[in-house]
Amino acid sequence: MTKQATMLHIKLISIICFLLLGVVGALDELVASDDGGQFVYSGFSGANLTLDGTATVTPGGLLELTNGTLQLKGHAFHPTPLRFGNGGAVVRSFSASFVFGILSAYPDMSAHGIVFLVSPGTNFSAALASQYLGLVNVRNNGDASNRIFAVELDTLQQEEFRDINDNHVGIDINGLVSLRSSNAGYYADGEGGGFRNLSLISHEAMQVWVDYDAGNTQINVTLAPLSVAKPVKPLISAVYNLSSVITDTAYVGFSSATGSFNSRHYVLGWSFAMNGPAPAIDIAKLPKLPHEGPKARSKVLEIVLPIASAAVVLAMGILVILLVRRQKRYTELREDWEVEFGPHRFPYKDLHHATQGFKNQCLLGVGGFGRVYKGVLPNSNVEVAIKRVSHDSSQGVKEFVAEVVSLGRLQHCNLVRLLGYCRRKGELMLVYDYMSNGSLDKYLHGQDNKPTLSWAQRFQIIRDIASSLLYLHEEWEKVVIHRDIKASNVLLDKEMNARLGDFGLARLYDHGDDPQSTHVVGTIGYLAPELGRTSKATPLTDVFAFGTFILEVTCGRRPIYHDSHGSQVMLVDWVLDHWHRQSLVDTVDMKLQDDFDVGEAILVLKLGLLCSHPFINSRPDMRQVMQYLKKEVHLPELMPTNMSFHMLALLQNDGFDSYVRSYPSSRGSISTTTSSLSRRG
Ligand SMILES: Nc1ncnc2c1ncn2[C@@H]1O[C@H](COP(=O)(O)OP(=O)(O)OP(=O)(O)O)[C@@H](O)[C@H]1O
Ligand SMILES: *[C@@H]1O[C@H](CO)[C@@H](O)[C@H](O)[C@H]1NC(C)=O
Ligand SMILES: *[C@@H]1O[C@H](CO)[C@@H](O)[C@H](O)[C@H]1NC(C)=O
Ligand SMILES: *[C@@H]1O[C@H](CO)[C@@H](O)[C@H](O)[C@H]1NC(C)=O
Ligand SMILES: *[C@@H]1O[C@H](CO)[C@@H](O)[C@H](O)[C@H]1NC(C)=O
Ligand SMILES: *[C@@H]1O[C@H](CO)[C@@H](O)[C@H](O)[C@H]1NC(C)=O
Ligand SMILES: *[C@@H]1O[C@H](CO)[C@@H](O)[C@H](O)[C@H]1NC(C)=O
Ligand SMILES: [Mg+2]
Repeated sequence: MTKQATMLHIKLISIICFLLLGVVGALDELVASDDGGQFVYSGFSGANLTLDGTATVTPGGLLELTNGTLQLKGHAFHPTPLRFGNGGAVVRSFSASFVFGILSAYPDMSAHGIVFLVSPGTNFSAALASQYLGLVNVRNNGDASNRIFAVELDTLQQEEFRDINDNHVGIDINGLVSLRSSNAGYYADGEGGGFRNLSLISHEAMQVWVDYDAGNTQINVTLAPLSVAKPVKPLISAVYNLSSVITDTAYVGFSSATGSFNSRHYVLGWSFAMNGPAPAIDIAKLPKLPHEGPKARSKVLEIVLPIASAAVVLAMGILVILLVRRQKRYTELREDWEVEFGPHRFPYKDLHHATQGFKNQCLLGVGGFGRVYKGVLPNSNVEVAIKRVSHDSSQGVKEFVAEVVSLGRLQHCNLVRLLGYCRRKGELMLVYDYMSNGSLDKYLHGQDNKPTLSWAQRFQIIRDIASSLLYLHEEWEKVVIHRDIKASNVLLDKEMNARLGDFGLARLYDHGDDPQSTHVVGTIGYLAPELGRTSKATPLTDVFAFGTFILEVTCGRRPIYHDSHGSQVMLVDWVLDHWHRQSLVDTVDMKLQDDFDVGEAILVLKLGLLCSHPFINSRPDMRQVMQYLKKEVHLPELMPTNMSFHMLALLQNDGFDSYVRSYPSSRGSISTTTSSLSRRG
């Protein structure tokens, strides 16, 4: 019985042992892997993963390893460790596959990458983010005790880890210096095969396969776009006996870390199998990579920001243009020397406003020097006439402005008051009192439906102008030569007082002593004959013009007019002719209809002839003229000789002849140049 019992005992024990072994084995299997070392996640909704750091599963089912916050790490592990060992010292074959996506806020920069790993534990609290990818730290990088096998998807090049570039896939053992690495891409299958580059940070999901063949210790890593089936040729193939690396039971999972760039790392799906190919991930079931978020936001920025910034730039540009234009519109020329004339200077803005921007409606007339505008000064509401004189150089302007300003001090009731000036580039504006009744020529020659002036008015005008000219020549602190006495420069104020205007203006164009550039400034018909030779304006050239002017006022004819046969007649010649024929009274303006003081008319006509005498020395000065007009002194008898008559005709035509023909006398005003004009051509 003892032998049989012993045998039974042994059998029983062995059965129990066997059973025990089996139970232990089953238990062992249960502890190591409740799923037989095989799983597949086509999206992570409801998945039981071990997560740390920034890792989360999004409501959409994405495994978000990093969320864009800088310098952080995140880990995700399959919750249970897997049995890699085959019961001995040898690691079994295994296969993993996953789909990932990297979203960077920048189109060409991202940090740092994703690592698929097999490790003995899940406590990576000591690992560093950034280039350490949450895998190791400075001290333990590469330590054989780490027992980590990893595949890195690295998007930033680190010299310290001998990275090949910023877009590579590498096989890592215990650290970040890759056993083997390759530029991200794949070898296309078939005839047209060849290497195709891929960008890890293209915002496109890609699939990775990691295969380990324990038999020949070969590790293959393969990458491909989602649309491409697993390529036959792996991206990287390395021979390495992982039995010395992977522990008997180990966790599989992912690690990721951010550095200085706003990047997000996602895993969309994942499958794993021991001793066989990884189960297929159902691509159709995979969650979508977020399109809002960095990419969407960048899209918003890509569209809205450029439009907004373009609008802002445009608005600012318009603003700048408006400001510049406004600035330009009102820019003035102001030089140091003008400071002393300050009070006489008007801001251009005021003049611009006064004339409503120099509108044509405000135009009073156009003369030889420029346009004259009517304006109402802002603030003071004073009516002014603004003459815009253009000049091509600043040469002489200084002298002129100095003179104009000094002329502004001229005070005489028969002078148009000069209120001030303003200067811009190439342009001078003179501000005068506004004369509401306009210029005398319009009355004399019946323009603008102006009424005919009575003799008394005419005689008063002559005396007014004579007194203003006397003031200019003799009564003011220095001699002022008007240079352009004529009917259109005599203006009538609201009480019909005659006022001489435009004094000194001719100076602007008169460059005095330089014979090469000598201009004769004035108006044809009013120019003294000697000006044709000397070009030098004197008080007596003003007297000559005054003589012509008073003949014009008395006869109501222009200094040069066309007779009934159409031929040109000099008014002076014509009056002189009548004087010779003792019919001087016949020259008085027909429009007066014989309603005039004959004595005064004869006096004025004779005075006119005397003043317009071709011989300078025969002309009276203005003091004498004034005395004659006041009838204080008798007019000397003219000596009518044929010679003087001929001389007159001769001299009148000398030098100006070509002008008289080329400029019709109807032209109100011209600034004549004799020698210089032909030279200027
Ligand atoms: N202060 C003023 N008040 C009112 N109207 C004026 C004034 N100054 C000029 N005008 C008008 O503007 C017109 C043009 O004047 P402007 O002085 O430019 O020409 P002009 O006298 O014909 O020739 P010149 O250029 O030789 O003086 C004048 O004919 C006159 O009708
Ligand atoms: C997840 O896995 C852990 C570890 O295996 C386990 O303790 C836990 O109960 C699991 N949770 C769920 C919801 O399955
Ligand atoms: C990312 O995760 C970290 C830690 O979990 C958290 O502090 C941070 O606010 C998260 N950032 C974003 C943008 O969600
Ligand atoms: C993880 O490891 C660190 C030391 O590296 C330790 O301090 C910590 O307690 C560990 N955490 C867990 C959950 O074991
Ligand atoms: C792939 O990219 C690498 C590095 O950027 C480059 O050297 C190589 O020429 C590229 N190959 C192809 C086929 O585009
Ligand atoms: C690795 O790739 C090679 C082809 O390059 C292939 O022959 C081998 O079977 C592959 N091994 C694994 C484990 O997939
Ligand atoms: C791999 O290494 C283990 C021991 O570390 C050894 O038993 C095994 O034979 C090796 N495999 C190959 C293919 O050399
Ligand atoms: Mg004038």
